[in-house]
Amino acid sequence: MGLIEEIKKRKTFAIVSHPDAGKTTLTEKLLLFGGAIQVAGAVKSNKIKKTTTSDFMEIEKQRGISVATSVMAFEYADRMVNILDTPGHKDFAEDTFRTLSAVDSAIVVIDAAKGVEEQTEKLVQVCRMRKIPIIVFINKLDREGLDSFDLLDEIEVKLGLKVTPLTWAIGKGQSFKGVYNLFKSNINLFNPHGKQDIEEVIEIRENETEKFTKHIGVHATKELLHDLNVIREIYDSLDLQTYLKGDISPVFFGSAVNNFGVKELLDCFVDFAPNPLPRDAEERTVNPEENKFSGFVFKIHANIDPNHRDRIAFLRIVSGVFYRNTNYYHNRINKNLKFSNPTSFMASKKSIIDEAFPGDIVGLYDSGNFKIGDSLTEGETLTFKGIPSFSPEQFRYVINANPLKRKQLDKGIIQLMDEGVAQLFTTLDSERKIIGTVGNLQYEVIQYRLEHEYGASVIYEPLNIFKAFWIKTEDKATLDEFIKRRRRDIAIDKDGKYVFLAESQWTTKVIKENHPDVEFYEKSEF
Ligand code: G4P
Repeated sequence: MGLIEEIKKRKTFAIVSHPDAGKTTLTEKLLLFGGAIQVAGAVKSNKIKKTTTSDFMEIEKQRGISVATSVMAFEYADRMVNILDTPGHKDFAEDTFRTLSAVDSAIVVIDAAKGVEEQTEKLVQVCRMRKIPIIVFINKLDREGLDSFDLLDEIEVKLGLKVTPLTWAIGKGQSFKGVYNLFKSNINLFNPHGKQDIEEVIEIRENETEKFTKHIGVHATKELLHDLNVIREIYDSLDLQTYLKGDISPVFFGSAVNNFGVKELLDCFVDFAPNPLPRDAEERTVNPEENKFSGFVFKIHANIDPNHRDRIAFLRIVSGVFYRNTNYYHNRINKNLKFSNPTSFMASKKSIIDEAFPGDIVGLYDSGNFKIGDSLTEGETLTFKGIPSFSPEQFRYVINANPLKRKQLDKGIIQLMDEGVAQLFTTLDSERKIIGTVGNLQYEVIQYRLEHEYGASVIYEPLNIFKAFWIKTEDKATLDEFIKRRRRDIAIDKDGKYVFLAESQWTTKVIKENHPDVEFYEKSEF
């Protein structure tokens, strides 16, 4: 099969949701359909459960699990589907943002009883920033939930998505009868007491009132036909190009745990969702069909095997074909590297591959060569965009608690930052190290890992910083002047870029007013 055919087969996407909406359950059901797993319960949630206590074993265990479920590839209807998992815990939001740089579309899961939740809003914002096409799955219809029209309104208002339902729930909770498939004109009946392995699908046109009544009763028929009329009146029908541009989102209803409504979603997904898309690099846009291979690292995972300090770098193939045992140019370190055991994540087990195509994710064993955002090519210099750092929400000074282990500490911190666990800033004035994170949990993870993997120990000192802003000016003289005046509040990030550390919202406002010729950004890419 040629490169173009391989590209057309591939669909690479992420499932995102607020924790507990049903992402893990849905992933598992999709894998069941794809034959990638045989039994329910095989995919463990990678979320770090609600414990905020220092349960390090739990964190370690969860991290171990999440390697196995980071990427799940399977074949379905002659397509190659790659699902990229994203951590549910909000302290790992950055990881999720970076993973979204490696997908071409997303499925957003919403709990029908809870509606749009905080984390969903944030994640969808990023998808929209990247113009990633989104399909919405409204889950848990077997529970009493919000009115379906109200839910769609909420999705439009809170998530800013223009929606169009492709299936529709008949009843809810106790009276949930099934879903009506608007584009195939059939009903899939829900059996609350049985397994949903054999679906009871009845072809039915909207004018066949008697047939509806026979299967779902008088009351539900009346309600459904009324709803269908309203749907036709207020929602645009799905236009594929509009969806692919990220301007309209098809909506499906179902119950993941009951395996209900999931097949409709998957069938539609493999038809509609985009094939591997071009990626922007600073130098130019790279198209998947190009013959020459290119790819970028969007995630690094350490400790696959606790006995070896090995890491795995996740590479998204952007263009051309990646071959095993072939020299590729690692842009940042200006070296050629070849990989003797690149792995794929087919059927939830890792296996060595000889070649991979655009859209595929390949795992590269790494002894410290890779950083998030690195690119590999056949020689061309390419810096892929879309993997920015965001301003952390919490900041602490790092203090070496064991002076004899300074080297170990430095090495440990650099490697953990390369993995994207947190961000390191060094103050310009005093050269003190500051670690910035999204949540508290990372500080515990860092402390624990430094001790167990590097034999170093740190303590943290609180620091009153509101946000880190990357700064940009028209010319160097303006930048130099600003740095001179605000030197105390300036630090350097991992790439040597200047950031302004603002103490509060109020200082931010004042500084911005006083320096109209300086631009302040909450992310490192602008
Ligand atoms: P997440 O990955 O988005 O965090 O959610 P996850 O799939 O772990 O699901 C969260 C909880 O919601 C799980 O229950 C799961 O069984 C349940 N769930 C998922 N889909 C449905 C559905 O369609 N209907 C209903 N009623 N529940 C659903 P749990 O009690 O937290 O875990 P478990 O003991 O069932 O595994």
